[in-house]
Amino acid sequence: MVILGIETSHDDTSIAIIEKGKILKMITWSQSDFFAQYGGTIPELSSRQHSQNIIRIIDKLKSEFDFSKIDAIAYTEKPGLIGTLQIGFLVAQALSRVLKIKAYPIDHIEGHFFSASFEKNYLFPALALIVSGGHSQLMLAKDKDNIEVIGSTLDDAIGEVFDKVATKLNLGFPGGPKIEALCKDNDFDLVKLTKPKTQGEFDFSFSGMKSQVINLANQKKHSSKNLACSFQKEAVDYLLEKTKKCLEKYKINSLILGGGVAANFLLREGFKKLHENVYIPSKELATDNAAMIAKVLYEKLK
Ligand code: KG4
Ligand code: ZN
Repeated sequence: MVILGIETSHDDTSIAIIEKGKILKMITWSQSDFFAQYGGTIPELSSRQHSQNIIRIIDKLKSEFDFSKIDAIAYTEKPGLIGTLQIGFLVAQALSRVLKIKAYPIDHIEGHFFSASFEKNYLFPALALIVSGGHSQLMLAKDKDNIEVIGSTLDDAIGEVFDKVATKLNLGFPGGPKIEALCKDNDFDLVKLTKPKTQGEFDFSFSGMKSQVINLANQKKHSSKNLACSFQKEAVDYLLEKTKKCLEKYKINSLILGGGVAANFLLREGFKKLHENVYIPSKELATDNAAMIAKVLYEKLK
C-alpha cells in the first residue's frame, strides 16, 4: 500500500510517500529561518509560505514519482494553526478528487507517537513522551488503536519555553537547537531552578521555570550561557524524572520519544538509559514531517 502524507500544522511544509510503512520520498521545507527575524511564527505569513511551498513540493514529487500508484492520502487535521492546516486539507481534497482515492484526517500527535516506528515495530503496551513546540505529554498505548494521554502540560509546552528562554537571552530562534549548540561543551556553572509540582502525577508545568530564567536574566547576575545551559539541564531532568515515575507505575514493552524537542542530545542520551527497549526518531523524523502522518494511516489500515 502506497500512502501520500501531508503535514502543514505549523511552520514545516512536508509531503512524504511511504510504501508498506517504509519511506520512499519525503520533502520537508521549514520556515524557521524565515521566522528567525520575528522570533516566532506569524500564522498569516506562515499560511502564505505554505501555499507557495506545497505546490512546489507537489510538482517536484510528481516529476520523481508516478502519483497513479498512490492508494490513499493522509493529512494532518489537528492540532495546529487553523490557516496552515486548511492548506494541507485543501491540497489533500484536491489530490483525492484528481486521483480518485480517499483522503484521511490524521491527528498530529499520533503522528509524533509513530515517528520512531519506521525501523522497527513497537511492542505493546508502550509509553511515549511527546515533546514539541506545541505539546508536552505522556501517552500510554495498550495497543496501536488504544492510545491514551496520561499526562500533559498545564501551561506552556517545553519547546515553546526553549524558544522563549533563547529569545530572552538573545540566542536566536528556534531556541532548542540554539541552546543545545551553545551548551555542547558542557562547560557551565549550574544555576539551580525549582522544578514545579503538579497535582496530576504525570502532568507537567513549565511556565514557572520560564519565569525563573526570565527573572534571573533581568537580575544580570549570571551569564546567558550559564542560564541557558542550566535551563536545558533542569528541564531535561524534569522530563526524565516524570517519565521514570510513569515507568514505576506501568509495565511496558516499548519506551518511545517523539516531537521536535526529541532532537535534543541531552534528552536523547538520558532517555536511552530509562528502559531496555527505547525508540528514538532520527532528527528529521523528530521534528514535524509528513512521513509520520502517513505512518499513522498505514497503522490504521494495515
Ligand atoms: O515538533 P516540532 O518540529 O513542531 C511542533 O509541533 O511544535 O517542534 C518544534 C520545537 C521548537 O520549539 C524547537 O525549539 C524545539 O522543537 N527543538 C528543540 C531542538 N530542536 C528543536 N528543543 C531542544 N533541543 C533541540 N535540539
Ligand atoms: Zn509537532
